[in-house]
Amino acid sequence: MLSLKAAGIQPGDSVLVPNFTFFATAEAVSLVGATPKFVDIEPYEFNLCPNQLEQAVDDTCRAVIPVHLFGAPAKMERICEVANHSGLAVIEDAAQAFGSTIDGTYAGNFGDLGCFSFYPTKILGTYGDGGLITTNDDALANQLKLLRNHGITGANEHQLIGFCSRLNPVQAALLKIKLPRVKDVVRRRRECANRYMERLQGLDLMLPNHRDRAGHVFNIFTIRTSARDEITRAFQKQRIGYQIYYPKPLHKQLPYQAMHCRDEDFPESMRAASEVLSLPLYPELPFEQIDQICDVIQQVLG
Ligand SMILES: Cc1ncc(COP(=O)(O)O)c(C=O)c1O
Repeated sequence: MLSLKAAGIQPGDSVLVPNFTFFATAEAVSLVGATPKFVDIEPYEFNLCPNQLEQAVDDTCRAVIPVHLFGAPAKMERICEVANHSGLAVIEDAAQAFGSTIDGTYAGNFGDLGCFSFYPTKILGTYGDGGLITTNDDALANQLKLLRNHGITGANEHQLIGFCSRLNPVQAALLKIKLPRVKDVVRRRRECANRYMERLQGLDLMLPNHRDRAGHVFNIFTIRTSARDEITRAFQKQRIGYQIYYPKPLHKQLPYQAMHCRDEDFPESMRAASEVLSLPLYPELPFEQIDQICDVIQQVLG
């Protein structure tokens, strides 16, 4: 919301967002009074499709929010090209992508603004809530500093209508302790992901793809399989945890149903929603447990 406000997004504007993401990506757009315009994702990954983006832009669109979903970087070069051509602000949703890179450049550096979440399940998580916005633009940075603290410029002086959105100092202190270890966290997550990929290679399922792999931080390890129900039933029997991120494309969530979007306009988001399966992955996860999980999947698909 702060980034959208700082970028000047207003009621009447549309903001392009992927249809397959966490609800908050579109929710922020709605909360500033603008309208999310849903765009389909790529066929073999879970991020915004630049070609679909190009086709979706119209005169009402003022910004695009590419999401680095699960920690895999979106195709920022092409997305920024389309955005520049159409005069759109680019706000990266990097909530799941702390440390994620494209050719060595970190997520949060590609757009005008980059938004990170410190929710406990994230790569760098606190023990409550918090977030971070990156920008290289001083004017935007100054605007954000005002917006996060009720627009205060001095004692009892308010320059604009802002928010109560300060980072809680106790959470900040915890983050300061955890920050130096974040590279180890990412390294270990990548090791776990590689173990999964070695073990699952060759099975009839879609693994996180190669292009992403170098810069992927694997906040969430998500496969796509038409045998999801069979695998989750086997997981339940073996008491193996799993999650479905996300079972509904955003246009099917209650607050957006009145937009009357058609399922057939989002074939890849629909397919992802019905086939995605997120496997356990956290830095402390032992390889033996990854192997056991892969054995169960292999038995089901066998
Ligand atoms: C992709 C994505 N965007 C936005 C958010 C919102 O972050 P927060 O809950 O910290 O506001 C999350 C996670 O919660 C997320 O996963």
